[in-house]
Amino acid sequence: MDYTNKICFITGGGAGAGFGQAQIFSEAGCRVVIADVRKDALDDAMRHFHERGAEVHPILLDVTDHEAYAAAADETETVFGAPPEIVIQTAGVNAFGPAEASAYDDFDWVVGVNLRGVYNGLVTFVPRMIRAGKGGWLVMVASLAGFGPDPLAAPYSCSKAAIINLATTYHEALKPYGIKSMVFCPGNMNTQIHLAHKTRPKNLSNSGYFLSEASVEMYRRHNVLGMDIREAGRRTMKGMEEGVVICIPYEDREDIIKNETRRMIDYCTPEGMIRLEEEAKKGNLRSSGTEEEADRMNAAISAGLGKAKDDIDWVDPNKKHS
Ligand code: NAI
Repeated sequence: MDYTNKICFITGGGAGAGFGQAQIFSEAGCRVVIADVRKDALDDAMRHFHERGAEVHPILLDVTDHEAYAAAADETETVFGAPPEIVIQTAGVNAFGPAEASAYDDFDWVVGVNLRGVYNGLVTFVPRMIRAGKGGWLVMVASLAGFGPDPLAAPYSCSKAAIINLATTYHEALKPYGIKSMVFCPGNMNTQIHLAHKTRPKNLSNSGYFLSEASVEMYRRHNVLGMDIREAGRRTMKGMEEGVVICIPYEDREDIIKNETRRMIDYCTPEGMIRLEEEAKKGNLRSSGTEEEADRMNAAISAGLGKAKDDIDWVDPNKKHS
């Protein structure tokens, strides 16, 4: 693909995977907008791009705010003269806790950023891209967590499942316009997502989940084992060039998805349910990631990641999911 002068709009572009994607697409010749809710992240990223003389424009944006999103799209057209040909929606947050402890605010925040943020981007950009008539790309970032249940991250895994569906739906819907869709589904990346709680708005702070420095630190130790952010950028670009709709950035992608979807198939039959029960006894529910990553995640869970807040009296910590 020729990326020269293509306009590429990246949410969450100030840090983590979005920053990695911004580097890779900028180095390939794109003119890039990085949109992020964190001013400090945008400033740090812009220092990187200024040093390299890259054509990158920062926009402070909360993706949950659709008026602000429309203003960001207007600003992109003012700065670069046209709507983007490539929209990469990477902004996302996570919070861990038992599904049964989830509060309204846990869903409203996590689903708000991860799903509402993404459909805000689609509603904002799709008409502009169709009118521009140049085709293009809609890339959304989900997660392997979107393919199955996650008893310790219900708002997160349901929002990512919805994004996988949105990408396949928009892929079918926008084919006649030459606009392609792809969803990028990594497992673990070396990013700052363990600090996502710092961007949680005050009006959505009533969580049912326990958060401590120790659990954040253990989650960080899990994250550092994950994929490098520039590699995430390269894998995003490779997925687009392969023309896949679901991009699993690992060599054994077919086996990963077979494992993840086999559970869904098992949920449909009585025999499958028996198989699942047997596997649950062996503790096989979390199937993705290396053994070391699984060990670190288990250590994080032991350190309190995924516990309910102390004042929640209906969650029985002895009734652990398998
Ligand atoms: P990160 O926390 O390092 O970067 C996310 C960026 O999004 C941050 O710069 C943050 O300020 C921004 N952001 C958060 N809320 C926002 C909002 N309301 N509006 C605009 N920007 C906002 O996290 P990471 O890991 O780079 O996350 C990127 C995407 O990758 C997310 O969608 C995440 O769910 C997904 N992902 C991450 C994995 C990981 O292990 N780190 C694994 C699988 C998927």
